[in-house]
Amino acid sequence: MLCGFVMLISNRKTNRPIHLYGMISVRYLSQNKPEGAGKKMFSLDERLALCASFVRNGTALADVGTDHAYLPVYLALQRKIRSAVACDVRTGPLENARASIARFGVEAIVSTRLSDGLQEVAPEEAEDIVMAGMGGELIVRLIEETPWLTDPDRRLILQPMTKPDVLRQYLCAHGFCLLQEKACLSMGKAYSVMVCAYDGRVRPCSMTFARTGFLLQDSSPEAEAYLRLVLSKLQKERKGLPLDSPAASQHMALIETISNRLTPDPKEETT
Ligand SMILES: C[S@@+](CC[C@H](N)C(=O)[O-])C[C@H]1O[C@@H](n2cnc3c(N)ncnc32)[C@H](O)[C@@H]1O
Repeated sequence: MLCGFVMLISNRKTNRPIHLYGMISVRYLSQNKPEGAGKKMFSLDERLALCASFVRNGTALADVGTDHAYLPVYLALQRKIRSAVACDVRTGPLENARASIARFGVEAIVSTRLSDGLQEVAPEEAEDIVMAGMGGELIVRLIEETPWLTDPDRRLILQPMTKPDVLRQYLCAHGFCLLQEKACLSMGKAYSVMVCAYDGRVRPCSMTFARTGFLLQDSSPEAEAYLRLVLSKLQKERKGLPLDSPAASQHMALIETISNRLTPDPKEETT
């Protein structure tokens, strides 16, 4: 917001008054206030809120595939992050990001970057990295193309929309340790969010772990909803497999494991 001002000074030679008119930005006037203070807050949907909950206090964040930059703007308003780069590979989403950043006045904390994955991001700008709302295979490519992610102090917060099994398999096979995984329900759909860090240890990845991660041991309703989604996907896939094939047997075994773990679905109960 801009404010006008009028100033009266006198001409040194003639001693006559001179009027000075000008505009200054209110943000300049209130520069001692924390960035975003007094601005309208907004809340994130459950999926992005879960991602945000995993971001460490005071971190330098890179939000890859940011679109509207809701996540970094929210975290800046919460004063949870030191800085953020909101990255996207397309200019349209970056315009959306710039609009959100300007609307909430967090330009000093959140900047935008046209970047394929982390290609245009410097390592010091990305202590915590969020990759949310993209396919599991794309997330794998973006990790693979960024060699400095093998720094154990960085955190990767990953929320794949598809192929989470491909992502978990990649992480296990390439020395990334899954530290935490939680599920959430957003608009009736279940999602998983994973937090990982590199420790260089290659781990075996069973089909069970690839498909369910930490969520098979999680008794929350959100994890249960996620497992139901995995179950229905496995059931569909199994129908396309030759009956006597090893893959069909593996599917059957996992379908049974997940079914035994779930509480009976009231919708499936006969009345
Ligand atoms: C569905 S939006 C997700 C927005 C937000 N992260 C969320 O989870 O709600 C996916 C975004 O990823 C961006 N994207 C796709 N491929 C990318 C890449 N290689 N590097 C960076 N961004 C990419 C798209 O342009 C799009 O804006």
